[in-house]
Order: sequence, then C-alpha cells, then structure tokens
Amino acid sequence: MRLIIGADSKVGSALARNWARKNIKFHGTSRRNAPESENIFFDLSDFESSSLKKVYDKIVLCAAITDMNYCENNPEKSHSINVDAVKKILDFFYDSKQIILLSSSQVFDGSKPFRQPNEKKNPINEYGKQKSVMEDIALAYENATILRFSKIVDEKDELFLNWKKDLLSEKEIYAFYDYSISATPIEKVVSKINTLMDKEVFGTFHCEGKKDQPYYEYAKDLAVSLDRSVSLVKKISYKEKKFDYKLPRYVSLRDT
Ligand SMILES: NC(=O)c1ccc[n+]([C@@H]2O[C@H](COP(=O)([O-])OP(=O)(O)OC[C@H]3O[C@@H](n4cnc5c(N)ncnc54)[C@H](OP(=O)(O)O)[C@@H]3O)[C@@H](O)[C@H]2O)c1
Repeated sequence: MRLIIGADSKVGSALARNWARKNIKFHGTSRRNAPESENIFFDLSDFESSSLKKVYDKIVLCAAITDMNYCENNPEKSHSINVDAVKKILDFFYDSKQIILLSSSQVFDGSKPFRQPNEKKNPINEYGKQKSVMEDIALAYENATILRFSKIVDEKDELFLNWKKDLLSEKEIYAFYDYSISATPIEKVVSKINTLMDKEVFGTFHCEGKKDQPYYEYAKDLAVSLDRSVSLVKKISYKEKKFDYKLPRYVSLRDT
C-alpha cells in the first residue's frame, strides 16, 4: 500500500488521480477536515497526534509550505514544517521501502542553467535553504529518494487560465520580463515519481523542465499558440510586486 502525504497539493492531487486511473492502492493525507473526504487527517505541525500507521511500503511527501514569501518572512515556522516535520516522517517510516521527498531548483544559486543533481548547492532564499537542509537530512536515510524540479506549469493554474481567457478575448495581459521560470509540466513530474518508484532508486534526481524563460516570453508563446497577437502581452517588472525573497537568475535542471 502507498501513501501520499499532502493529497490536496498540486503534485499530490495529480499523483492521486494518476494512481486511481491505474487502480493502484493508496491512501492520502490532508489537514483539511472535510467530512466527505476519504483522506486521513494529518497536520505536519502536530506529528505526535497523528493517526498515521506504519502500513505503507512507498510514501510520497507532497505537503510543505511552498509560499516563498511566507518562508522568507517566517523562517522558524516554515523550517518546523519544511525541515523538522520531514525528519519526523523519515524517522517514523525508516523501515518502509521508499520515501520520495520533493525538492526544488531553488537549492541552487541561479548562476548557471540546467544544473545536474551532483552539483554544489548554494541557496539564496529561505525556501531554498530549507529544501537544501531537508535534502541533507534525508540523504542519511537509506530509503530516501529526492526529486527536484522547477516551476510546475499546469494549464489549470489560475494565472494561466486567466491569461488564456484574456488573450482569447483580445485583452492585454501583463507578465514579468525579469522573473524566469523553467516550465515543468505536472504530467512530467508525476511520470518521474512513478519511474523512481517502479525502479526503486535512491539518492537525488531531477525532473527536467523547459529552458529558462522569463514569464513574458512564456506568455508571448502562449499568445502565438492561441493565434493571438503578441502585442497583447505587456512587460512588467517583478519589482512592482512584493517579492521578499531573492530570485535565482537560472532555475532549469538537467535530467539524469
Ligand atoms: N509547485 C511547484 O512549482 C514546485 C516546484 C518545485 C518543488 N515543489 C515541491 O513539491 C511539493 C509539492 O508542491 P505543490 O506545489 O504540489 O504544493 P502546494 O500545491 O502548494 O500544496 C502544499 C500542500 O501542503 C499542505 N500543507 C502545508 N502545511 C501543512 C501542514 N502543516 N500539515 C499538513 N499539510 C500541510 C497544504 O495543505 P492546505 O492545502 O490545507 O494548505 C497543501 O496541500 C512541495 O514540497 C514543493 O516544495 C513544488
């Protein structure tokens, strides 16, 4: 039996749908108390009161504090979830076959594109630092597999849905020219997790996305794909929005 910790997350919910389609048996956890939900209640901030059982051979940890501004401004609180709680999970499931932990390209400083898994880490923001420490702790466990990826781009994301809707109605959209992503489709991340589980491999792995591209370039490509004029896409600077964390220039990863 498998377990997805954080089945409401973007990755966890996509993985759950994929496994349900394949009739793979699994349980999911959530910290939402929805009465109709089949998920097991589990709050990472209160591991001691959890009702998790040691009946799972393969576990994927998707729950985390992913808001980078929140991490930057609340380093202790976010560290307790993104690092300390992960250690408790690793200790609890130390004799399971495999625990997959999700990490990020933010563990690198952004000075080079297409980083390889064995390259030296040097995070420049709090979220990246927490992911890096979490990885170092996890690598001491024989059953841990770390999967890093960059920005997941899912067509169902509010931002991309709104851009699509506005472009189709010939409305202008605004995109950062100075904030780059390496767009990584959610399906690719799900497929990589499945491969790592099927092969039962341990250590650090990357899920490669597209080349580094400012949001502005990505949005222009979207306009072209929708047969709309690129002049509808307007440049803005990320400095106009409130980002309290440092942005790495390059965020792309090389697959292995
Ligand atoms: N999305 C990306 O582009 C990306 C890129 C690289 C790495 N990753 C990593 O991949 C993993 C999954 O990311 P995601 O984007 O799928 O996450 P997400 O959609 O932002 O969801 C995060 C999940 O964590 C849960 N959570 C937060 N605090 C919790 C707590 N104290 N106890 C239990 N659950 C808690 C949230 O629950 P609520 O919904 O109830 O708040 C939510 O379900 C994370 O480790 C993330 O760092 C993501």
